[in-house]
Amino acid sequence: MYLALALALALSCSGKDADTAAEAPAAFPDDFYWGAATAGFQVEPGCPTISAEVCEDRGSDWYQWVTDEALIGESATHLAGEPLSAAPGHYELYEEDIARLKDELGANALRVSIEWSRLFPDRAAEAATTVDELAAFVDPEALAWYHAYFQAMRDQGIEPFVTLNHYTLPLWLHDGKACYYDIDGCADRGWLDGDRIIPAIALYSGFCAREFGGEVDWWMTLNEPFAVILSGYLLPGEDRTNPPGVTLEVDYAFEVLWNMVEAHARMYDAVHAEDPTAMVGLVPNLVAAYPEDEDDPIDVEGTAALDYLYNRLMLNATIRGEVDRDLDRVAESTDADLAGRMDFIGVNYYTRLTVMGLEAPLFADYPGSTFYPVGSFWQNYPEGLREVLNLAAEYELPVVVTENGTPDPDGEEGAQSLVRHAQALRDAIGDGVDLRGYLYWSLVDNYEWNHGMSMTFGLYEVPPTDPEKPRSPRLVADLYSQIVQANAIPEDLEAEYGE
Ligand code: FCB
Repeated sequence: MYLALALALALSCSGKDADTAAEAPAAFPDDFYWGAATAGFQVEPGCPTISAEVCEDRGSDWYQWVTDEALIGESATHLAGEPLSAAPGHYELYEEDIARLKDELGANALRVSIEWSRLFPDRAAEAATTVDELAAFVDPEALAWYHAYFQAMRDQGIEPFVTLNHYTLPLWLHDGKACYYDIDGCADRGWLDGDRIIPAIALYSGFCAREFGGEVDWWMTLNEPFAVILSGYLLPGEDRTNPPGVTLEVDYAFEVLWNMVEAHARMYDAVHAEDPTAMVGLVPNLVAAYPEDEDDPIDVEGTAALDYLYNRLMLNATIRGEVDRDLDRVAESTDADLAGRMDFIGVNYYTRLTVMGLEAPLFADYPGSTFYPVGSFWQNYPEGLREVLNLAAEYELPVVVTENGTPDPDGEEGAQSLVRHAQALRDAIGDGVDLRGYLYWSLVDNYEWNHGMSMTFGLYEVPPTDPEKPRSPRLVADLYSQIVQANAIPEDLEAEYGE
């Protein structure tokens, strides 16, 4: 009920009414970006012939997280323990993947990430205080690989959408294992140590913009801050654990949140200092939130509180400079050093969340924490994409769907999910959302964080145990290529799989 209201409000704000929306145009804008999304950690390892030492980036906290025997042995980490050699080997096979994206799908964009620890594997890099100084510490082979990578995209007419930080941190900044065992005493505290990580990530971002600005125009700063916070410091669980994977460290969790807000702003400034015309945005994972019982005012109120914290707080901070540390939905201050740091909003959308409201806050010092998400974090709900795009549009910035997809997209269900999400995109454009692109998660099956290869998201299937890592298109790849090439949802697809 609440979201229906929010949607009605969003529609009225955009000056359109529901009837106009129903007459949404059949085609997408001519310059629409259609593509796929990936992240380096998840797709690069598993090379057929390049040695594992080179193919895998062994300098990151995530490498440690998924390979350390002691951590794998802890039931609370929910680590599958699958070797990284099972991943699809994109580090070696990127040229054919890019060609496939272009020739088979007809797409024009690919979201990838730069792995900070590939470029700067050594702790010595932390001594740098300027981009020039930092350049002295770069790994020349990694640098050459990224140039070749972006050039390969450009050669194929593929627009690179580049994430500067897709979860992974250099081990010299974040020892997730030490922090898992001793969150108060670990030395390299990652997002908990704002004085170290904020200047370091800003310099790294400036370096990337200077080095790759000629090849890259679209930059994303941080991927899904709330996944880092929730699965790292609050409620790690079967669905996701991020290092350091500690539970209910509430003050730490919100410290991380504000460090990430500040980091985003400094990354934004650093990229713009090198490349004033760059498009820079944060990538929140937005959710369609629904009360468990829509007739229960406590659930309805809890849903509004979750929607605020999960979907809006960071956008309010990075776009409007609003700082609301007690999360009571009233900003204590406005910070000009945070405001206006967003050229577009990158929206990751996967799920609807069912929310149980609470009479008293879950966390005593945070009055806004009057909710608890119940049920699965993977509820397939395509209409929710339209809702979250309308929510993003309230901030009056261009929007790109930087991730959306379905686990195990085989067969009818995957097909329906794709076509219905495409309908939601079209409806959102009809609502007036300035939507610039859609990047399907993911191009190929990839290493799904703590799950390893057991959750498959690829348009292309990759058998983890075949050392050649052949790709074969799923039904969704065929349907996606039809949508992309028509720049519209073909009528027969809509009839067969649509809403
Ligand atoms: C998102 C992550 C992405 C991928 C998808 C399935 O939370 O950003 O890397 O794991 O989920």
